[in-house]
Order: sequence, then structure tokens, then C-alpha cells
Amino acid sequence: MDPQSTPSTQRRQFLYIILGGAAAAFAGLAAWPVWRYLLPGRKADLEAKIPVARREVPLGRAFFFNFRGQPAVVLQPAPGQFVALSAVCTHLGCVVQWFPDKTEFLCPCHGGRFNAEGQVLGGPPPKPLTLLPLTIEGDQILVG
Ligand code: FES
Repeated sequence: MDPQSTPSTQRRQFLYIILGGAAAAFAGLAAWPVWRYLLPGRKADLEAKIPVARREVPLGRAFFFNFRGQPAVVLQPAPGQFVALSAVCTHLGCVVQWFPDKTEFLCPCHGGRFNAEGQVLGGPPPKPLTLLPLTIEGDQILVG
């Protein structure tokens, strides 16, 4: 210990250490979500098939879900026939919505329209919605 340090100086140094530790811990907590966002996904996560229960996709309806960090949709346009698509519009990336009465997807941003297979029906989208592979295993639809 410094022979010239007084109790006041020691108290100040102690407070600096405590405040420095608290500031470092706070900075770490604040930076963690940013770090996780910037990290690429683990290979296993990027290759995993995403299960969707068949009961979530009744005839003519769409079920939206998160597919590897992107919005996606499964729908059943005909009995027992399932289609999985990216729900990201191919124009400028808005998320499309399903309109069961029209049996088409509509993009809310610029009016792009897609049929149940993701083909462009109208509007500015330059190409179809991305088709996602799927398999049926029992009561599960496995997308990916
Ligand atoms: S982003 Fe979908 S039509 Fe423009």
C-alpha cells in the first residue's frame, strides 16, 4: 500500500475500481445482442429442417414461421398438397401476406401479387417467391 495514501484516496480508488467494473459489465451486456446478430449462424442451425405441424396448415390457409432467420410460409392449396415458400417479396424484400379468399399472396409495399406456388401474378416483383424444400413425416411438415 502506498504510504502516502489516505483513507479518502483509498476510498476513491476503490470506487473507481467498482465503477470501472460496472461500466465494463454494462458495456458487455449492451454489446452482446449486437455480437450475436453479427455472428453467422451455426452450420447445424442453418441446415436444420424446421418442423411445422400439419394441423397448423388447414386447407387453403397459410402458416407463417421463421425459417433460418427469414419469414417463410407453408400453405395447403389442395387437399394433402403442401407448399413452402419464402415470404420475402422478390421486389424489395417486404413480407407478403396470404389472402385465402383470393388464393394469392399480396405484397403490402408495392402491390406485388403471387399465386399459391409463388409465381408472379402482377406488380413489380421480378421473379417468383423462393420455393423451399419440404418433406412430410407423419404429422410434421419438415421445411429445409
Ligand atoms: S417489395 Fe413487394 S412489391 Fe415491392
